[in-house]
Amino acid sequence: MKLLITGGAGFIGSALVRHAIACGHDVLNVDKLTYASNLNSLGSVRDDSRYRFLQADICDGDAMRRAIADFQPDIVFNLAAETHVDRSIDGPDDFIRTNIGGVHTLLEVCREALAAARLPGTFRFVQVSTDEVFGSIESGCFDETSPYRPSSPYSASKASADMLVQAWTKTFDFPAIITNCSNNYGPWQFPEKFIPTIISKAVRGEPVPVYGDGQQVRDWLFVNDHAEALLLAGQTGRTGEVYCVGGGTTMPNVELARLVCDLVDRHGAGAADKPSRELITFVEDRPGHDRRYAIDHGKITRELGWQPASDLERGLAATVDWYMANRDWLNRLAASGQAGQRLGVIKGGLV
Ligand SMILES: NC(=O)c1ccc[n+]([C@@H]2O[C@H](COP(=O)([O-])OP(=O)(O)OC[C@H]3O[C@@H](n4cnc5c(N)ncnc54)[C@H](O)[C@@H]3O)[C@@H](O)[C@H]2O)c1
Repeated sequence: MKLLITGGAGFIGSALVRHAIACGHDVLNVDKLTYASNLNSLGSVRDDSRYRFLQADICDGDAMRRAIADFQPDIVFNLAAETHVDRSIDGPDDFIRTNIGGVHTLLEVCREALAAARLPGTFRFVQVSTDEVFGSIESGCFDETSPYRPSSPYSASKASADMLVQAWTKTFDFPAIITNCSNNYGPWQFPEKFIPTIISKAVRGEPVPVYGDGQQVRDWLFVNDHAEALLLAGQTGRTGEVYCVGGGTTMPNVELARLVCDLVDRHGAGAADKPSRELITFVEDRPGHDRRYAIDHGKITRELGWQPASDLERGLAATVDWYMANRDWLNRLAASGQAGQRLGVIKGGLV
């Protein structure tokens, strides 16, 4: 199959590109190459004849129109997005532009191409979304019927995009699927996100920041399991449907931070003269921080036969192993100031 994957130079997108190529598909990776991208994550597929790359912005209608007309994909997977909640608090503009405007552009370009029979009749569009659109849940799990209650500019932009996709399926009979996924972890995640930040700080013996009281609960999914779920949903999911994807293991943030610190120490890589977990420092909470996420992935299991394959402790150990082997990348980003700073704190009230 021909798969157009946007955001394929990002954390999850690159895992999907690698998985799709390994499964024998042709891939066109369309990525703007923002600060969060890393083409090194695609080193293993770069020279594969089935892999192509286009540097372009999903908000650029002409570029998207040309990409669709030239490649004629069977499936478009949209993973291009601004993704860091803290950055969305400091500056929502890029989030609104890419996460909402970019999705609108892609929907219209694909709809136009379908109407002109420039795409196969079996064409599908997969919008990759997040469980954060549902806000916080006190007990139980989110599922496909959960109401949307986004708390951050990031989750509001993703929720808006989901609603555009839902409207396009209802109004235009547009063949789309939405997936709402929990927190991912694994290799190549940019070290502004929670797990690589813990590793990066621990190996330098710096305070490991945990927001608020650290009791925020997240549902963790290994990124390769997510890539498998996406490909399966794109190929066999029912259009017009939503699939929730989760790892099935929830954990409070502070507990996860302790686990990751211990794994760093097991490598003999902790830089402090005490256990790395003693570096954990509670810092000011994120404004609007959701307390708990948990996903019921029963529908995708029942209908498409997907299950997360990785167990959290083994997946985390593999992730820490990977970051240890790629410590240069972490150190370079920390030294250049591109990662490691506290973002998303509102000083002095409304501004
Ligand atoms: N990371 C998670 O835990 C998680 C969980 C659920 C859903 N998601 C969703 O999965 C998708 C991928 O997330 P990620 O963590 O891999 O993100 P990421 O930040 O690692 O990568 C995003 C990629 O999109 C590209 N991009 C950004 N703006 C673009 C634009 N205007 N045009 C083209 N490319 C652009 C970037 O260059 C980057 O390569 C996002 O849509 C995100 O909302 C992520």
